[in-house]
Amino acid sequence: MKRERFTVDDFRGKKLSGEKITMLTAYDYFMARAADEAGIDAILVGDSLGMVVLGRESTRDVTMEDMIRHASAARKGCRAAFLIGDMPYGSFATPDKAVRNARRFADEAGCDAVKVEGEPLEEISAIIKEGIPVLGHLGLTPQTATDFKVRGKDAETAQAILSASRRLEGVGCFAVVLECVPAGLAGAIRRALSVPVIGIGAGPECDGQVLVINDMLGMYDKFTPKFVKRYADLGGMAGKAISLYIKEVANGAFPTREHSFTMRKEELDKLSAG
Ligand code: KIV
Repeated sequence: MKRERFTVDDFRGKKLSGEKITMLTAYDYFMARAADEAGIDAILVGDSLGMVVLGRESTRDVTMEDMIRHASAARKGCRAAFLIGDMPYGSFATPDKAVRNARRFADEAGCDAVKVEGEPLEEISAIIKEGIPVLGHLGLTPQTATDFKVRGKDAETAQAILSASRRLEGVGCFAVVLECVPAGLAGAIRRALSVPVIGIGAGPECDGQVLVINDMLGMYDKFTPKFVKRYADLGGMAGKAISLYIKEVANGAFPTREHSFTMRKEELDKLSAG
């Protein structure tokens, strides 16, 4: 059955009704379509692209060109899910730059919203004034992090994250991602905000969850955070399938007639005669 397109209003509607919001990353047509057809609410073209798809060392190495190319591909596979483009490091350094780059996500890649890490309030306000919805991102923010430890474990840092979440809501973010914070803190922030809190490594008390699709499908094994649940081992399956292909090409088991084209005998005779 065809689904209605998920909207900003649906984020808030689900928070009000208590239904969980589901979000996954995707970076291309195939995975976006798989997630969309499975019924996901929202797809984030995350700057995790840099590590899990482009094989780079850090999410900081991702450019606007990388993001626009992959967001455009994801758009093609995404019919009903809400599509969010992740603003890469340096792309929102000033309000003007932030607006210019957010526009590229909307106009060139067809994104419904952008995500901005941290608390650049002026830049976020400028994007929202331009009519582009913004998803905030607090807690562990990999673009500026120097370590990958849990954030907000003591009352003081927890309070700082809670206050920052309120400020993001205050400037008009339609939802906030909380990454790597204690479950109790995420629950407190969910109760304090009227906009949804989407958790990644933030426990079960959030309004919704997001995971990196390559992590949950077993397609990235360089590093697997504690909060990831593996729902499949596609990496392992790919390895086994490729080994079998290599073996069958080597021993002549592939291709067979079933995978070959034929031509009429007379044509073949003419060819050998010539
Ligand atoms: O880039 C990304 O995949 C993200 C998620 C971890 C939220 O920002």
